[in-house]
Amino acid sequence: MSKVTVIGAGNVGATVAECVARKDMVDEVVMIDIKPGLSEGKALDIAQSAPIHGFDTTVTGSTGNYAATAGSDVCVITSGVPRRPGMSRDDLLSINAGIVRSVTGSFVAHSPDAVIIVVANPLDVMAYVAYTVCGFASHRVLGMAGALDTARYRCFLAMELGVSVRDIQALLMGGHGDTMVPLPRYTTVAGIPLSELLSVERMHAIIERVKGGGGELVKLIGTSAWYAPGAGAAEMVEAIIKDSGRVLPCAAMLKGEYGYSDLFIGVPVCLGSRGVEDIIEVKLDNDERALMKQSAAHVRSNLDALRRLQSEGKA
Ligand code: NAI
Ligand code: 2OP
Repeated sequence: MSKVTVIGAGNVGATVAECVARKDMVDEVVMIDIKPGLSEGKALDIAQSAPIHGFDTTVTGSTGNYAATAGSDVCVITSGVPRRPGMSRDDLLSINAGIVRSVTGSFVAHSPDAVIIVVANPLDVMAYVAYTVCGFASHRVLGMAGALDTARYRCFLAMELGVSVRDIQALLMGGHGDTMVPLPRYTTVAGIPLSELLSVERMHAIIERVKGGGGELVKLIGTSAWYAPGAGAAEMVEAIIKDSGRVLPCAAMLKGEYGYSDLFIGVPVCLGSRGVEDIIEVKLDNDERALMKQSAAHVRSNLDALRRLQSEGKA
């Protein structure tokens, strides 16, 4: 009996629930939201699509009743405020920390053996918040951002080169924000190094678009994206449920890897039933190391800001 909980039945949460259900890989998906009726209604809508899509996963929703989530294998935390035009992910720090803290506590009381995937922003700091609340070993807490940012990177490269997205393999590290670190040296098209196919100028232009990829969508839609984020989280859930050993960039707690400790940040992770099975340390050149340092400093300054707000009783 396998079970996935999705906390927050908004744009991203409902998409995660739908993507997981359509993969027909777990017995049950439970959505939880504080808005009365929202998770129940969206769950019913997804359940009614089952005869058309052909899946057997049971999808249910509940308004704040965490007993319904008991015994979950994986939990995806999407509850939190999304950004609006003009806002950065960091502007969400204080309100989302409070939400993530409270839902994590309620969830782990009923599912002490789960793996937690955090999606709420600012992502790397929210993963840290969930980790401190849940009391789990760090391999059982992850943040979803790299799956999304890498998908954006692969999508833009495929559009530029006129090739299938399926043939683009790419790596991207660092925090989820403007300081993320796409790594063209570790990007190939069917094994062909990107540098053989794309000029340095075009590559830089694409990297800048990836970095601003979330903001580009906020400007267009008026709120943040959900299809690719939901699909990214579901991809991680699948890797954990199937114990597949897939290697995806995820925010993970570092304990000396890449020279950092006590920090959640995006790195290549081998995913399995334990959550983080392994953090893969690739060799970075001087420029890449400098970008990673800048990104880690940004995540660290957000963490410090949260701690300051907490000590002032404002978060
Ligand atoms: P949304 O506003 O559509 O949904 C959020 C849901 O959380 C709402 O339905 C709300 O009622 C619920 N919620 C709030 N407090 C709650 C609580 N205490 N318990 C249960 N439910 C609660 O927002 P959306 O677009 O789904 O985004 C959710 C979060 O995910 C945002 O923080 C956003 O910035 C983040 N995000 C992160 C991405 C990433 O790559 N890591 C990508 C896209 C969004
Ligand atoms: C995104 O990158 C807002 O983090 C969200 O779309």
